This record gives sequence, C-alpha cells and structure tokens, in this order.
Amino acid sequence: MAFANFVALLCFLTTSIFTVKGEVRRFPDTISFGVATASYQIEGAWNVSDKGESIWDRFTHTTGLIEDGSNADVACDSYHQHKRDVEMLKELGVDYYRFSISWTRILPDGFSNRLSQDGIAYYDTLINDLLAANITPYVTIYHWDHPQCLQDLGGWANPMMVDYYTDFAEVAFEAFGDRVKHWLTFNEPFVICNQWNGMTAKTPSVGMSGIADYLCGHNLLKAHAKTYHLYDDVYRPTQKGRIGWTLSTHHYEAASRSPADREAAERAMQFELGWFGHPVFSSEGDYSQILKDRVNQKSSEQGYPRSRLPEFTSEEVAYLKGTCDFFGLNHYTTYLVRMPTMALKSSKAGFEDDLGVEKFVDPSWPSSAWVKVVPWGFRNLLNWIRNSYNSPEIIVFENGFPDQGDKDDVGRINYYNGYMNALLDAMEDGCNVTAYTAWSLMDNFEWSMGYTKKFGLYHVDFNDPMRTRMPKASTMYYKSILETRTIERD
Ligand code: GAL
Repeated sequence: MAFANFVALLCFLTTSIFTVKGEVRRFPDTISFGVATASYQIEGAWNVSDKGESIWDRFTHTTGLIEDGSNADVACDSYHQHKRDVEMLKELGVDYYRFSISWTRILPDGFSNRLSQDGIAYYDTLINDLLAANITPYVTIYHWDHPQCLQDLGGWANPMMVDYYTDFAEVAFEAFGDRVKHWLTFNEPFVICNQWNGMTAKTPSVGMSGIADYLCGHNLLKAHAKTYHLYDDVYRPTQKGRIGWTLSTHHYEAASRSPADREAAERAMQFELGWFGHPVFSSEGDYSQILKDRVNQKSSEQGYPRSRLPEFTSEEVAYLKGTCDFFGLNHYTTYLVRMPTMALKSSKAGFEDDLGVEKFVDPSWPSSAWVKVVPWGFRNLLNWIRNSYNSPEIIVFENGFPDQGDKDDVGRINYYNGYMNALLDAMEDGCNVTAYTAWSLMDNFEWSMGYTKKFGLYHVDFNDPMRTRMPKASTMYYKSILETRTIERD
C-alpha cells in the first residue's frame, strides 16, 4: 500500500473510532459568540422625528414587489423596544451584539452637513445599554439602506458615493467611536452590487447586470478602503478599535473530481467571494486573474471597446490591499458546480454569463426556502479561505436558517448543530475562527420575502402593537451552547 493511502486509512480509522455521535465537544476559550440584526429589518420608526427616506422605504412603499406586500415601517419596532432587545441579549448570554446604523436616521439628507440629534441619541442609548450589560457592540456602518436621494444620483454606480459614504462613516466614528471598538464598513458587498445593481426584480436596483454591478463593486471597494485608511490614520490612534467588512458567499463545490468541474467551482468562488476578497486579502491584490480574464474575454466577444470590469491603477491596488483587520464572513448554504458541456455565449452582458458555470443542488440535501443544509460545505469554505488568503483571522458574522416562525423550531436547531460542529471541524483543521454570529436575534423583515420567512432565535408577534418577543426552542439551544461553550457532536 502506498504511504499516502496508508496515512489516509489510518486517519479514517482514527476518526471513526474517536468520533462518537453525541460526544460533547468544547469550543476553545478564544472564540466569542454573538447575534446580529440590521437597522432596516428591525428598527421601524421609518419616518419618526427627522429621519430621511432610504432606498428600502421607497422600494417597499412603491413597487409592490415584496412577497407579502409588507414593509418595515414598524418591523420589530426596535426604535422603541431596544431595552427589550438588550434584555434578550442578556438572557442569551452573548458576548457581543452586531447591529447596523441607519444612514438616514443620523444624516436625514444623506450628507454630513446636517446631523439628526434624535438619531444619534437612539444609537447612543443602545450602545450605552449594551456596555452596561457587558455586551460588546459590533457596528455595521452600512447594511443596505442608503438614502434615496443618493440613489437618485445613481447610487453605487456614482463614484461620488465613495466620498458620501466616507463622510457618513466619519460621523459614526466621531459620534460613537469612543465606545465602539468593532466596525464593519459594509454588509455583503456582493449582494449589494450583484443583486441590487445587476438584477431588476425584487430589490432597489438600476438593472444592467454585467455593467452596473462591476461599477458598484469598484466604487464600493474604494469607499471601503478610504474609510479603512481614515479610521487607521485619524481615529485608531486614539479610539484603538478594529475595522473590516463582512463578505457573503455560498460554498461552491465541484460536482466531480474532473479538472473542468474543479475549474468551474474555483471560478464560482472567485466571482463571488474573490470579487471583493482578492483585492483586500490576497498577497498580490487587485481583482483575481480569473475574474479579469473572463470579463475581458466576454466583453471583447460582445464588441465592447474595453472590459466591462473597471481597472485599478497600481496605486489603487496597493491602497486596497490589507484594508481589513480580520476576514468577516456571512454564510448560509452550498451549491454544486459543473462546467457546461457547451460554452454558453450571450450577446448581452451579464454577470452569470461572464461566470459561465452551472450551479445546482443535491435534491437529497434537507432544505428550507433557499437554504440547503450542508454543514460540510461550511467547513470546506472556511478551509478555502484559509488556503487562499494565508490563514487570516476569520469572524463569522452571519449564519442561520429560515422557517415560518415556528416556536418549536427543530429545523433551526438541527441547522445550528450541524454548522457549529462544522465550525469546530474547521478550527481543528487549522482555521483561525475567533467569533461566530447567529442570524438573527429575532424574527424580522426579510427583504424581498417580507415576513414570509423568519430567521430569529426569538419569536416576534407582528400582530401585536407591542411587537412582543418570546423565546423559541432554538433560543434555549443557543443559550446553552453559550453557557457551556460545548456542543454535541452530530
Ligand atoms: C443576509 C443579510 C441579512 C439577512 C440574511 C438572511 O444576506 O445580510 O440581512 O437578511 O441574509 O437572508
């Protein structure tokens, strides 16, 4: 028997002998646990005091494209119920709470010339209450709800957004940075640019996939880097915090071991995670060669005079590189990927056409809505990040499971059990994960799905004017993991 085969057999036997279902596994003391929410999804009070209109206010009010015709005018009413939110965080025993700032609540006109004192006071109270409860605030500066007036100027396709965004971030550092030491510039750049600037349906979008999405990405990367450097140069010396962002990705697994399918899976990873990951976390910086080559080739086949993917100058490449103090990751599910047998050709620009692979799922995977439960995909993804980006510190900022809002939410418990076991597996593989965040603290407004799907650990009664929150089975499950820092092997 070849030595490698012998080692593989030995590993298999050792794992089989020593991995017992039900065995208790302990998380290292170095990992902390939290839960997350986002301003538009929970706050409500959409026009209280001098708050300005965000793109999601306008979209939900005017398009009729939300699945149940709803909006987040009231949502969980956290603007008025935040004391109860902090109580729930204490009940759960989290180390930190990740929430976001509504741009138009603190800058009603979008620009930093006029601040809302009420808006600032709301976040001041929340932050102070969290600190008094010994819960660390993790603040997402932008979780999708930018001012409608800036969308009217082109939104993320407008290069001026780089400055407008940085001004907004600076107001947040000035107002809250004495107490907030953990910042995220953006939640899920891929979703912001791919869905909202690429596709027309269901989200506030300018359409034009294959053009607007790459413009958005380019501007957003620059806005992130400018904000990182601003914090690093001006605020970090006195405020002494950390700053990064959180990138979303599915895991893409090759459907077979064939070189073509492996190439397809790697391409899918580079188009989704690598689009924003490569310029910041790779040692060479810039967009990945795979992304540049594909969009270049497709653009020239389609008769464009230049690549639809904008280019960075070498100064910009250097300016972007390393602009995160950790690798933030949001992850929910996995796809299988294969190379199409016939090259897909389209005369029309489009992100999926540029990518040019087939994605599908194994029908035997348990699923709920768009989330297929594939814990091993999470483990493989964490290892992909470790191998591709030189073992960065990884913080998982979102992971969760949708259902109809059941209080006896066994599906969610199974999901967390599987994914948190996979997290431990990945840590044992050598992935440096220092924090894990469940999405979400409570049921809330789930974007284009309205209130038809729920991700909460706490149930919220949306028919009750008080928006009463009640624990679910998963509340108790997550609480017991946080208390004992252990989990049962699945
Ligand atoms: C993420 C998003 C969250 C939440 C979650 C569940 O992409 O950041 O706001 O909606 O998905 O779908």
